[in-house]
Amino acid sequence: MFVDSEPRSWNMDPALLEQALTDRIHRGTRPKAVIAVHLYGQPADMDAIIEICARHEVPLIEDAAESLGATLRAALQDTDIRVEPVMR
Ligand SMILES: Cc1ncc(COP(=O)(O)O)c(C=O)c1O
Repeated sequence: MFVDSEPRSWNMDPALLEQALTDRIHRGTRPKAVIAVHLYGQPADMDAIIEICARHEVPLIEDAAESLGATLRAALQDTDIRVEPVMR
């Protein structure tokens, strides 16, 4: 499934992600993973996306190919794709 973007960063909209996960889980089809992508050097809203994925117990994969040199809360983004397990 695809989750539409939000206008600030053009990346995944956390509110629409919440809706999509809630809907799928309600229907008994929990997604295997969420892939968040940072586009054009603009980091996605990772605080919200990590929280939503953790709460719904869906693994999060972060594609940082386009976030080379980008910062989020002054922390450097990785320069390659990384897999970040966020399940508790
Ligand atoms: C968001 C994103 N992920 C991954 C890649 C790497 O893709 P590939 O390995 O096919 O070159 C790119 C390349 O432009 C990209 O923009």
